Amino acid sequence: MDNPFSKLFKKQEGSVLGVDIGSSAIKVIQLKKKGSKAILETYGELALGPYAGVEIGQATNLSTDKIVEALYDLMREKEVNLTTNKCGISIPFSSSLMTLIEMPKLSYKQLGAMVPLEARKYIPVPISEVTLDWTIIPRDEREEEDLEEDEGTKITKIKKTDVLLVAIHNETIAKYQEIVNKTGLEASFYEIEIFSTIRALLEQEKTPVMIFDMGAATTKIYIVERGVVKTSHTINRGSQDITSMISKSLGITMAEAEIMKRSVGVTESNSVNIKDVVHLSLDYIFSEANQVILNFERRYRKTIGKILLVGGGSALKGIAQIAQASFQTDVIAGNPFTKTEAPAFLEDILRDTGPEFAVSVGLALRRLQEFA
Ligand SMILES: Nc1ncnc2c1ncn2[C@@H]1O[C@H](COP(=O)(O)OP(=O)(O)OP(=O)(O)O)[C@@H](O)[C@H]1O
Ligand SMILES: [Mg+2]
Repeated sequence: MDNPFSKLFKKQEGSVLGVDIGSSAIKVIQLKKKGSKAILETYGELALGPYAGVEIGQATNLSTDKIVEALYDLMREKEVNLTTNKCGISIPFSSSLMTLIEMPKLSYKQLGAMVPLEARKYIPVPISEVTLDWTIIPRDEREEEDLEEDEGTKITKIKKTDVLLVAIHNETIAKYQEIVNKTGLEASFYEIEIFSTIRALLEQEKTPVMIFDMGAATTKIYIVERGVVKTSHTINRGSQDITSMISKSLGITMAEAEIMKRSVGVTESNSVNIKDVVHLSLDYIFSEANQVILNFERRYRKTIGKILLVGGGSALKGIAQIAQASFQTDVIAGNPFTKTEAPAFLEDILRDTGPEFAVSVGLALRRLQEFA
């Protein structure tokens, strides 16, 4: 098989890709640096269902070779017209283990020795099989007092440090390295998708924000405060469950149900039937998400300022209104293109398909920083 990436080896300065290999689709964004701006040059999406013998919109679990084949196909698409192989690639949230642990207040060096030992308690596989990373999460003053009162340690005043522990299985990293080697993509980093999404979406919000990323098989929830992930959670339902509910209840094929879901969504004009069916799936997801919010608000005694909807599932027409009714907080369609400039003719399409590209935009923005 000829490698369509090979012709790019010594191409174009200044352009970069963000490559998000999701469970149901690959999303790619190409940005270019112009002065201090990030200009959107092109973008592309390729459904992975057909590579796994399932319908478009369904989640897959593909071999490395199949992913390489799909990337080749995306690369060959004339309309997408990618012109660089420089990129950053995302690692699925599900391939990482992220947990907030509490450590005694120690020096950075002491923590460096202690965290890997402590990590054994939280990581269900041998430590030698994972790559570990950790960062100290600053506590603000008020939180510190609250927590001390909470734990009844007011008298002894034992100071604690919150540490965000991240582990990625070495096999996962090896898999992405193999994809890079076989495609000729030039990846300078692999990043867990949560951090890419945060980069694309968030500014300097003072209040905690919840990001709601609805994919095909799962919905991921992150609560972020001043750029730091405070809570993360995966709900085992996603947009493909809506498709299969529509298919079953109307007696139509999955392919037909997918088309119906994408074209009509849950707008007023729908038949009551579809609306009820879609509502049922969404209610389950929203109620679990509400539980996550409740737990966060109880633990930190803070309220969520807003909820941002991203992921292909969030492109469902009418979803924001239903979410708004379910959450006691402002719900906004996440727009990952606020930090980029796009040609006018792309604006409409980006408004509709935008939420799908949050991860890929965040990756490309990070890769662009390397030119600074
Ligand atoms: N316009 C639309 N209306 C409703 N649903 C849509 C629309 N466009 C895409 N979807 C659904 O979004 C889902 C895919 O979303 P997305 O591309 O964010 O998932 P993914 O990144 O592949 O999944 P994951 O992040 O879980 O690995 C599919 O189930 C698809 O049916
Ligand atoms: Mg995704």
